[in-house]
Amino acid sequence: MNKNMLEIVMPASLAVVAGAIGACLLLLGGELTGVQDYERAESLSLTNEAVASAPAADSTSISTVPLSPEQYASIMAGDALFKGNCAQCHAVNDVVVGPALGGARKRRPETWLRAWVRNSGKLVASGDEYAVKIFNQYQKQQMPSFQLSDKEISQILDYVESNEARAVGLVRLVE
Ligand code: HEC
Repeated sequence: MNKNMLEIVMPASLAVVAGAIGACLLLLGGELTGVQDYERAESLSLTNEAVASAPAADSTSISTVPLSPEQYASIMAGDALFKGNCAQCHAVNDVVVGPALGGARKRRPETWLRAWVRNSGKLVASGDEYAVKIFNQYQKQQMPSFQLSDKEISQILDYVESNEARAVGLVRLVE
């Protein structure tokens, strides 16, 4: 088996709802179970594509998708950045001090997310509707600003996506 292979477990029922998984992820939440090596991660976008394009199958069907070295490296870097900067207030699938970050890319465009991470207060002050809403929702607690590059923020979001997929047992890493 190649290193960094992504194994996708795809019961037929899950395949049907694959498109809606983003919405369900937040509800399911919690720690991963039965998945090897929690510290490793894969990309959810990759997973969704793979699930969507896989043939209809019974509940034991498994397909594998290789991660490119770049994807793998991005997720690993994002893992470290997340732990160093965000994990004190955020988890992927649970509300901590701030909201669960799972699904962030589906809720907001990448440009918005970058602006938010670098200076959420500025976005709130600008009157951005979503920013104001979420700020109010979390007791007007301002998130710190982070001097992170576009690339670093993308890496964090890649890591977040990979963890969403694993939380529902849709993917696991095969070494
Ligand atoms: C000290 C706590 C704290 C830290 C550290 C923190 N955040 Fe936040 N974050 C919050 C709070 C609180 C909110 C809710 C909005 C608000 O109150 O301003 C939030 C909101 C967000 C949102 C909007 C979420 C959504 O569902 O729309 C994103 C995205 C986000 N944070 C990303 C990050 C990232 C990435 C990092 C690390 C680089 C990070 N945050 C670090 C507290 C924090």
